[in-house]
Amino acid sequence: MAEQIIGVIGGSGLYEMEGLSDIRQVRVETPFGEPSDEFITGTLDGVKMVFLPRHGRGHRFLPSEVNFRANVYGMKKLGVSRIISVSAVGSMKEEIVPGHIVIPDQFIDRTNATRANTFFGNGVVAHVQFADPVCAELSGWLYEAAVEAGATVHRGGTYICMEGPAFSTRAESTMYRSFGVSVIGMTNIPEAKLAREAELCYGVIALATDYDCWHESHEDVSIEAVLAIIKKNVTTAKMIIRNAVKQIASERSCPCASALQYAIITDRRAIAD
Ligand code: ADE
Repeated sequence: MAEQIIGVIGGSGLYEMEGLSDIRQVRVETPFGEPSDEFITGTLDGVKMVFLPRHGRGHRFLPSEVNFRANVYGMKKLGVSRIISVSAVGSMKEEIVPGHIVIPDQFIDRTNATRANTFFGNGVVAHVQFADPVCAELSGWLYEAAVEAGATVHRGGTYICMEGPAFSTRAESTMYRSFGVSVIGMTNIPEAKLAREAELCYGVIALATDYDCWHESHEDVSIEAVLAIIKKNVTTAKMIIRNAVKQIASERSCPCASALQYAIITDRRAIAD
């Protein structure tokens, strides 16, 4: 069986992975510049892992400043085939209570066009399929592992990705709710698009930290509230990953592995390697 290497991109509050052995810190050069930090490689219960803190250790990069291309390219270069994204999000539904976990299966992109979210361009034109933006298999395992970890977890839902760094206005929050979205965050859409182009599976553990600003009987989102909930939730996220690693290391049979085969590409010779 081909060995799968699992990548974890940690969001706010998740800057390291405990329980890893054979740890190495690896600096990866990419054609897109510097990744957010050095990658941490190691093994978790015998499974090879690569970890990267999305905002850098010490939380140095705003969502708009994260070099998503370098991060995903680095994961690919280190042999990763499946990426688990751990992300703090605001809840856009009453029933998603801060502290709950959501495994989203759809995205809406409300980021600015200034974020680099493709490896293509400069003469190579390609359009990958993105109707189902996360890996269904990986997301299913994450859901089951969250149940096993004793978390209150919501299967599926739409993650709306805003630009930030300021949180939403009340009018925006109300408008997004009218779209029927489940959660709001600032980072996942470029990662998901780039992972698909790189033929990597992508699945999200979204940690609900607040009710954004739409909820009348809850305080508006604040950094303090987000960080307090994250502290608790990060432990659960680590348990979920640990519960799921063995399954996630299994051979891939999902369509993510052959995304470019089904893409519209003007000149296939340009992506031959
Ligand atoms: N991350 C955590 N809470 C958020 C919110 N309310 N809006 C956007 N990103 C968030």
